Amino acid sequence: MKKIIVGNFKMNSTVSEFKTYAMSLATKTKGTKNTVVVCPPYTHLTTAKEFLTGSKIFFGAQNIFDAESGAYTGEISAKMIKDAGATYVILGHSDRRNKFKETDKLINRKIKTALANGLKVVLCVGENLQTRTAKQEAAFVRKQIDDDLKGIYENELESVIIAYEPVWAISTNRDEKTKDITTKEINRMVDVIRKEIEAQYSKKASQNINVLYGGSVNLGNYKRILGNEAVDGAIIGGACLDVDNFAIIAKENY
Ligand code: PGA
Repeated sequence: MKKIIVGNFKMNSTVSEFKTYAMSLATKTKGTKNTVVVCPPYTHLTTAKEFLTGSKIFFGAQNIFDAESGAYTGEISAKMIKDAGATYVILGHSDRRNKFKETDKLINRKIKTALANGLKVVLCVGENLQTRTAKQEAAFVRKQIDDDLKGIYENELESVIIAYEPVWAISTNRDEKTKDITTKEINRMVDVIRKEIEAQYSKKASQNINVLYGGSVNLGNYKRILGNEAVDGAIIGGACLDVDNFAIIAKENY
């Protein structure tokens, strides 16, 4: 089964390190059947364009601003990342939601701007530990989906991928002793997401939308997580930074 494998670099690597990484990844993943997307920092996008064009690897940004242009010192627009060669953008990542206080309203505007500029969106949703302990995760994720996708038409969902990324399962938020999320837990939430898409759009939309899992996917668990038919792929943070590790996960036949 063909999977979508997204690498989220977060704020890591220099341009020259990324150049080496991109060249190596292109070579190491030759012939993969999966859709491989790397999302480095903004400053690396033109390097990605230079060294990934001609390979089968796509690349994207980790954020955009919601306005098209204007007096927004320090911000980057959808058009700018598109021009740099990006075809994807990660939106609603929990780092953005929690550390930069991004609201669902803002994420909704960013999604609309991204789609209007022909970008594919990887929309991250997921609950924190407190919400999970209170057993409110299904309601929480449903609301994120409703608010983030408000006003987005069914035909536009073709360009939207949803990543279920529970905040408590992300590698930098957990201690090493915490057990990996189980397949059953992943499937239960993937089902919540698909049912919400069905409720808001249609059965067809719920079947067609790609739902990824993210949170500590690594060499030790990728076969179990990605070998699961219910998930269409994974978003990978920490484990994508090592090109050999990421290439192994990206190249696998699932
Ligand atoms: P992780 O990060 O794979 O290191 O848990 C995933 C993410 O935050 O996107």
